[in-house]
Amino acid sequence: MIRTPVCELLGITHPVFLGGMASASAAKLTAAVSEAGGLGAVGATPMSAQEVKSTCAAIREATEKPFALNYLIFRLQEEGLAAGLAERPGVMAFAWCRREVALKPYFDRAHDAGSKVMFMAGRVDEARRAADAGADVIVAQGSEGGGHVGWMASLALLPMVVDAVAPLPVLAAGGIADGRGLAAALCLGAQGVLMGTRFLATEESPLPQAFKDVIVRSDGHDTVLTEIPDIASGQVWPGAMARAWRNRFIERWAGREWDLRQNRAEAFAAVQEARGHGDPQEASILIGQDAGLIRAVVPAAEVVRRVVEEAEEILSERLPGLVHTPHAGERPAPAEGPGPGERPVTPE
Ligand SMILES: Cc1cc2nc3c(=O)[nH]c(=O)nc-3n(C[C@H](O)[C@H](O)[C@H](O)COP(=O)(O)O)c2cc1C
Repeated sequence: MIRTPVCELLGITHPVFLGGMASASAAKLTAAVSEAGGLGAVGATPMSAQEVKSTCAAIREATEKPFALNYLIFRLQEEGLAAGLAERPGVMAFAWCRREVALKPYFDRAHDAGSKVMFMAGRVDEARRAADAGADVIVAQGSEGGGHVGWMASLALLPMVVDAVAPLPVLAAGGIADGRGLAAALCLGAQGVLMGTRFLATEESPLPQAFKDVIVRSDGHDTVLTEIPDIASGQVWPGAMARAWRNRFIERWAGREWDLRQNRAEAFAAVQEARGHGDPQEASILIGQDAGLIRAVVPAAEVVRRVVEEAEEILSERLPGLVHTPHAGERPAPAEGPGPGERPVTPE
């Protein structure tokens, strides 16, 4: 079993988190992840007060474990946020706030409701801003991830965020779909992982089967960072691109974004219709590069279990075997030339 301090803080068993995904939220998926010992989340940004209430009731019907409500600050509606706070979830998970908007009032309201505050950042300065505003947990989201992401890849961003907000717990998001990702994230200083794409390809995910099949078939090289889905929907995200599957919809408009702006309403209606029909070529399908690691649609609880078991095996058996302490008399000769990070000395 892998336990990190964030598990104690949030009252969960495993350091495995479901990303709040407004366009793919389902009480069933949220409850399944929480019931399996991780932390499920609902992307509540577009929900009415009544939808928030009924979704929380459905989750609580299925599990007594904690879960998170996720809100995108730049486009939340007060009515939906107030309804979420009234539910007093274990965690209020926020993301994407315009620079000129203060985070603290949102975090204070969440704390007053008795919730812990999580904030997802794709930049070090954004993570630091959230820490200063009183967040309890920071998510460092790398550009490999599905959905809206920033410009920094997880491998570099994660340890930078860990250093910048220490001693706050940090979770890694973006590009993680298995136990190797969890083990690597822990090595880089994270206390857990948050996954979106992996959980989209589960039995409980609300995506049409044809979209889940796209994830399973993807080799991870077929995604692209693009503004096309947002131009079509008319949403301007603060500092984000969308990582999407490169399908006919994306290829039609790539390089012709100016034209898409002119035909936005029509294009968006077509995308919505395609989603309704489960047509993967003409819909907007947001998935991460880690789709290349996903080979089957499985129950969400199995994802949690496999990720934890694989990480455990790597950390307790494979990695310790790599560390060799030389005996006396077996010490390696001092290396010639510059060591890692040292400059070569140029003879004068
Ligand atoms: C379809 C989709 C919708 C998403 N919607 C949201 C959202 O509403 N709020 C949010 O904070 N993150 C959202 N995300 C980002 C996830 O929370 C998470 O950071 C990301 O999926 C991690 O990368 P991965 O897909 O490689 O696991 C979304 C991601 C996807 C794939």
